[in-house]
Amino acid sequence: MTKREKPSAVDSSDSGRRARLSTESYKGVRDFYPEDQFIQRYLFEHMERVCELFGFEEYSASILEPAELYRSKTSEEIVNEQTYTFADRGGRDVTLRPEMTPTLARMIAARQRDIPLPARWYSIPNVFRYERPQKGRLREHWQLNADIVGVEGVEADAEIIAVAHSIMRSLGADERNFEIRVSDRRILDAIYHSVGIAKEYTGNVTRLLDRRAKIDDFEKELTALIAHEEKAVKLIEELENITSTAYLEELRVALEHMGVRNMIVDTSITRGFDYYTGMVFEVFDTDPNNRRSLFGGGRYDNLLSLFGAEPIPAVGFGMGDVTARDFLEAHNLLPTYTPSTELMICIVEPDATSHAVQLAQGLRREDVAVAVNFSGKRIGDQVRSADKMKIPFVIAVGAKERDSGRYTVKNLSTGAEITLPADRIAEHLFSSLG
Ligand code: HAM
Repeated sequence: MTKREKPSAVDSSDSGRRARLSTESYKGVRDFYPEDQFIQRYLFEHMERVCELFGFEEYSASILEPAELYRSKTSEEIVNEQTYTFADRGGRDVTLRPEMTPTLARMIAARQRDIPLPARWYSIPNVFRYERPQKGRLREHWQLNADIVGVEGVEADAEIIAVAHSIMRSLGADERNFEIRVSDRRILDAIYHSVGIAKEYTGNVTRLLDRRAKIDDFEKELTALIAHEEKAVKLIEELENITSTAYLEELRVALEHMGVRNMIVDTSITRGFDYYTGMVFEVFDTDPNNRRSLFGGGRYDNLLSLFGAEPIPAVGFGMGDVTARDFLEAHNLLPTYTPSTELMICIVEPDATSHAVQLAQGLRREDVAVAVNFSGKRIGDQVRSADKMKIPFVIAVGAKERDSGRYTVKNLSTGAEITLPADRIAEHLFSSLG
């Protein structure tokens, strides 16, 4: 018998080891440990607060959508190719949403008569795209979507950009740290018309333009796409000649009125999605090392009519959490972690446990976030674990505290101690926590 064939106890313990589950998450998605979730919450709270200051209402929907929603041209072709689509047990094709805009359009179209317009809606969904994971690009990300549905015009376009700007400011960014690059789909439409690009090519040309910075020989690829060298050269030339439009200048003035001074016109911004019809924009870090867009959005006035609804104008953006976090990190703007737990009650001896639990319940009624340490470990170890968890205060409860009704509250960062009756603890914590 060779070594490999030997059936022995070694083999079974081997297979036991092999059967151990991997602790790795699925490729391209993230686990959020408390420190990560803390940052995530910080981001979301700032996004939500700014949206609400601008009069936006929150909405939500399921992650699952009928696959048909994206097949019907609501989404970008590329995003469409990146969907997670599968058949459910009933044979229906289901897609994990790759973006929120088709869902928003579907929801508004479904109740178009009942929803008072203009509607300002926001949501922070997780969305899924089967991309090659890399810096700033993952397979699952959270994306704030803020959209104004039911109004045309420069005021709504300016307001949407001002929301994006305010979120950046509320996160501590300076106008010098980021820039808002704006263009207009109507510029492309006019060029396509004057150069003579046939309708069936325009979608692909726009998407190629959107990827332009990543393409080595753009002229060659464009020529191949439209099968016409002269037109390719003319298109590139015309695009370079346009530095702004009357509309974009009007937008700039409207933004300046709102205190937004870091908008630049950049006709290389085209956006990949077919549904945009007017103003389009992206927000970038001014630090070239952080190349990926922080926000992308624009005006889409025809999307809702795909649902048989009356054409309803709309404008909005998506802001991703991955690039936002990279931005905060690069600019030293990440908040320092503090747990939500304000106090840990450590138990000195087992027969003080029920008293400790009672004390905790009383403090919770006074709105103190309390964790009771049931580990049974030595008191020093319990305090060390509170410290490691960055919980600011501890109280040790033993027979002495139970019998006297007085408790020593220790501040773990300063080492300061104070002995108080139960009904003074909450007040002391709140005044120390500020
Ligand atoms: P989008 O440009 O595909 O637009 O995405 C918007 C933002 O989401 C990007 O600027 C980026 O921050 C983030 N993002 C996109 N893909 C990924 C990824 N794979 N990993 C991490 N972050 C990502 C849209 O989705 C439009 N539906 C936005 C919109 C709303 N337009 C109008 N209303």
